[in-house]
Order: sequence, then C-alpha cells, then structure tokens
Amino acid sequence: MLKTHTCGELRPEHAAQHVKLAGWVNRVRAQGGVVFIDLRDRWGITQATVDVQSAPEAHAAAEQIGREYVVQIEGIVRPRPEGMVNPNLPTGGIEVEVQRVRVLNAAKTPPFEVSAESKVDEALRLKYRYLDLRRQRMQRNLILRGMVTKAIRDYLYERGFIEIETPILFKTTPEGARDYLVPSRVHPGKFYALPQSPQQLKQLLMVAGYERYFQIARCFRDEDQRGDRQPEFTQLDMEMSFVEREDVLTLIEGLMIKLVEVAAPLTGCQLVTPTFPRLTLQEAMLKYGCDKPDLRYGLEIVDITDLAAQTGFKVFVENAAAGNPIRAIRIPGCGNYSRKQLDDLTELAKGAGGKGLAYIALESGESGQVKSPIGKFFTVEQMTALIERMEAQQGDLILISSDTHPVVCAVLDAVRREFGARLGLADPKKIAFCWIIDFPLFDWNADEQRWDPSHHLFTSPMTEDIPFLDSDPSKARGQQYDLACNGYEVAGGSIRIHDRALQEKVFGLIGLDVEDAKARFGHMLEAFEYGTPPHGGIAPGIDRLVMLLAGEPNIREVIAFPKSQQAADLMAGAPSEADAHQLTELHIRLAEEISHDGNNGSA
Ligand code: AMO
Ligand code: AMP
Repeated sequence: MLKTHTCGELRPEHAAQHVKLAGWVNRVRAQGGVVFIDLRDRWGITQATVDVQSAPEAHAAAEQIGREYVVQIEGIVRPRPEGMVNPNLPTGGIEVEVQRVRVLNAAKTPPFEVSAESKVDEALRLKYRYLDLRRQRMQRNLILRGMVTKAIRDYLYERGFIEIETPILFKTTPEGARDYLVPSRVHPGKFYALPQSPQQLKQLLMVAGYERYFQIARCFRDEDQRGDRQPEFTQLDMEMSFVEREDVLTLIEGLMIKLVEVAAPLTGCQLVTPTFPRLTLQEAMLKYGCDKPDLRYGLEIVDITDLAAQTGFKVFVENAAAGNPIRAIRIPGCGNYSRKQLDDLTELAKGAGGKGLAYIALESGESGQVKSPIGKFFTVEQMTALIERMEAQQGDLILISSDTHPVVCAVLDAVRREFGARLGLADPKKIAFCWIIDFPLFDWNADEQRWDPSHHLFTSPMTEDIPFLDSDPSKARGQQYDLACNGYEVAGGSIRIHDRALQEKVFGLIGLDVEDAKARFGHMLEAFEYGTPPHGGIAPGIDRLVMLLAGEPNIREVIAFPKSQQAADLMAGAPSEADAHQLTELHIRLAEEISHDGNNGSA
C-alpha cells in the first residue's frame, strides 16, 4: 500500500509514529519557511507541514504542488502545539511533519472548487461529475446510500428474504410510463423493453415458491424528468407470499425506522413519530390536497363550502351550486402581508391550475383590520362564522380556493408546500412517514373511454368490492398502499390478484381484449394456472428515500452519475449517435434518412 493510514485516522496517540499518507491536496499554503498541506481522502483530512530547515528537498517539492494534486507524504506524527489544535477536524489534534513528498499525479486547476461548498452550476457539476463527487457533501451522500442498501440487505436477510436478480432485457411492463426499447440484432424488427420494474418477474418468483424475495433493482421509465424522477432509478423491489396488507406495512415500518437510525449519525435526520399515520386517499386529498402529504407540519385544509355558499361572492355561490367545493387554509402569522404579497399568491394558484386565490387577512395590532377583496360579499356574521371555522386569530391569513375538487386540491397542495417552505416548517432534518390506503382500483380515462388501473393491473380489489367489478368499477377499492414521506411518494405496492379469472376480468375492464392480454401477459395468465399462492409486495424508491434521509432537494444529489433534466449524461455525452454499421446490424433506419431518400422504409 502507498499509505499506512487514512487521512481521517491519525490521533494524538499516534504521536511519534512514522506514517505514509496518500490522497488529494485539499489546500496548500506557504508561511515563513513552512508549507502546509491539507491532504484529503475518503476518510478525512490531515494537515501535513513541510519545513524548509528539516526537509529542504521535500519543501522544494511541496512548493510545486497545487490543489487536487495526488501526492504521497511520509513523515512523523506530532501532536499539535497548544492553541493550534483544530477542534473542527477529527484529526485536528495532530499534524504530520513531512520528510518526503512524492507527486503521484499532477492536476489541472479544477473548473470549480472541490474543497468548498460553493454554489456551482449543475450542468458544470454533471459534466465534471468525478470532481463533483470528490466534494464532501457528495461523498457523504454516496456513503449514506451504501449504508442504506447494506442496512436493507441486513434487515431483510434477518427476516428470511433472499435476493434474486431478474433480467434487464425483458418485455414491456405496465407501470404506466413509456418503455425504453432495445432493438434485437438476432430478431429483426423485434425489441426488448427495459423493465419499468420487475413486477411480473417477482410475481412469477412467488409462483415459483420463493416466498420472500427482494432485489435492489434498477428500473427504467421514459417519462418527463423532475427533481424526484430519473429515467433510470433504483427500487427496493420486494414480494412475499401468504401475506396480508398488514404484514407488508409492519415489515416496511420496521425497515424505515431502521434506515432513519442508520442515517441519523451522518445527517442528523429525525423520525417525527415512530408510528406511521394511515390516511385513506380521500382523507389525504381533503385534508392535505394530495396523495403524498407532508406531515412535518399542519396547515390543514378546512371545508367552508356551506358557509361560503351563503355569501354574495358569485364564484363561491356558483361553484357550490354546481356541487364544487370551497376550501381554505389558515396561515399563521401572515395577516400583515402587503397588498403585493397577497396579490402574488394568485400566481401560485394559477400555476396549480386554479383561477384565483381569495384571501382574508386578519391584521395584527390594535387597528387589526380584516383585509379582503371579497370582504364586501360577506355579512359581519358570515365573516365571524368563517373566522371561527378556520380557528383564525389576529395576524393570520386565510387563503380560499373554489373550483372542481381536483383543482382545489392542487391549488391548496401548492399553498401548503409554499408556506411549509416559506415559514420554515418543512425542516429537512425531520422525517415524517404516512401510509395512504384505500385507493380506488381504477381511474376513469375520459380520453380513451376506459378504466385505467390506479396502481397497476395486477393489484387485487378488496375482496368485498369484487362484485363492483360487474356493477360499478368506480366503487371498487384496490388492496393498494403507498408510503409517503415529507411530501414525496417513497413506496408503492399492493396485494396482487392470484386468480386467472379475476385477472382476465381486470384486463377486460382496462380495455385489453383476450388476444392483447395473451400477447402481453400470457405468461402470467398461464402461470396462474399452476398453483399460485396469494401474494403481495411493495417497492420503495431508494433514490427518493436516500434524498430525504440526506435532506437533499433532489435525487440527482444521491446518484453517482445521474441524468440531467433532459435525460442526458453530460459527462459521457449520452445519448449519442450510433454509427451506420451498428444501425444496419440492428435492422434500423433513421426516419430522417428515409424521408431524405423519398423511400417509405418498406424496402
Ligand atoms: P411504483 O410505480 O409506485 O410501483 O414505483 C415504486 C416507487 O419507485 C419510485 N419511483 C421513482 N423514483 C425515481 N425516479 C422515477 N422515475 C421513479 N418512478 C418511481 C417511487 C415509487 O414510490 N411494481 C410496483 C411496485 C409494487 O407494486 O410492488 C412499482 O413499480 O418511490
Ligand atoms: P375577482 O372578482 O375575479 O376580482 O376576484 C376576487 C378575488 O377572488 C381575487 O382575490 C381572486 O383571486 C379570487 N378568486 C377568483 N376566482 C377564484 C376561485 N375560483 N377560487 C378562489 N378565489 C378566487
């Protein structure tokens, strides 16, 4: 080894030892005949001193080195003199008095500072990801990620699970996103699809008798990118036989609690409560406006339809008459917002698809007026009743949305998120999980006039709701559960259908005719005829979980080599063109070539 110790290891008890360290030059500075080198590796930073008197050769070499050079130093560990101890550095009690410096590799000046947490344009960080990954925060994130996957494996092996890999080259999977396709050279005109998840394969493993399976599985989905979405991402994919919903929820709660414990020493994250509240989808939508509520703070939605319908404000009266809701949120301490601040909130509503956002501002102080553009449409009694319903006090702001149920939900969800952040209620160190249950099995797809599965098409209806599949599918609830955390969906799963006839019925309702169903999922239907155990599972998204445990704002911060918002790898330059020879082998002609040739491609 080129090093006897890591750069995070040496302490005063190592004093007088002869050591070799190797790593990157984090900082280097010269001062009165001494060169100070802060040497960095994965484990930490150690200060080395090179004195022109005692080590003239080493000093000359040290004078030549710059930031990010890779060097090896050799010398004696000395306790730092009184007053020079650096309490912020674990190795701050010592320094290495260098006798020899060897440059292992020089470095150009990096395009951004590696040793400081300065703000750097993300495109630049992604282009030079290998430099970005040297930074302390990124190292912490990737180390955390590794600890999380190890803790997952330990937890599941202790409970009788086995890890099984499933193929990446597979067949189209129905998770609701677009597939990534891979052309086959051997089968002209045919394509593999990269799995959106190992859903079918894990169910087939249950048919095969592997009762408790898991996999840290890479999934591929060609969908629009967001801060919490990547084209390829990682799931903890799990499936169990002979389980009921409760078994899955209990197992996952234990796992999540363990992961917070593992992460806490590194990131300071804290579980808000060890019991995970359970909300039905409907409760979540009414109270928080979304199916993945952030429970680190209240700001709950209150229905005021009955009160608002009595007022003279036309929008409210007409909406209530049409059966639409009027709902509001009380924002504490914002009653003195300026006119401009209040008017700007309308944009928030518009961004979420609303037409406006009415406000009632209860100014604080002695004059304490009620400021509201719709105040004139309320009688004094109506206003009093509304303020009471909202449990509002002087100094509070009431924000009101009225529209169809989905729009009101979207607007007030945006309001909650905005004020959660603005008022500092969304503390990134806090971790608040909750389960969302009782989803409808289907959502109506008005464009295509058919039912879409609200989770995926293998989800079992609640046993008591099976008759609704014939009478009114909208009433059938699925045995589906989502785990939400801090405003994100971190896991989704369900108890599955394990009966061919029921599975065929669901295929029928979502508009898959018998032939389609056979072509796409014939292997599943056939398997279901050979003794299929009742089974269910779940898949937590590891990127999102680690993001939340790390307190990071997006999942790119916890992925070593993520894609950009445009689904590109900015470092390697992917995707890139394929050469003509490769395309020919794959039996592929590009559309622009075909139109250029005036050939319709049939030749
Ligand atoms: P689902 O589609 O809900 O379920 O996905 C499960 C979890 O995976 C994460 N996730 C993503 N993370 C990053 N980028 C993406 N593009 C992305 N898409 C999803 C989320 C989500 O909760 N087969 C089912 C699971 C099951 O039924 O067992 C499935 O894939 O955290
Ligand atoms: P207007 O009468 O259109 O000037 O609106 C008066 C106030 O009501 C403004 O603050 C609007 O933002 C608000 N408003 C308009 N439409 C809605 C709506 N659908 N829900 C809630 N507030 C609204």
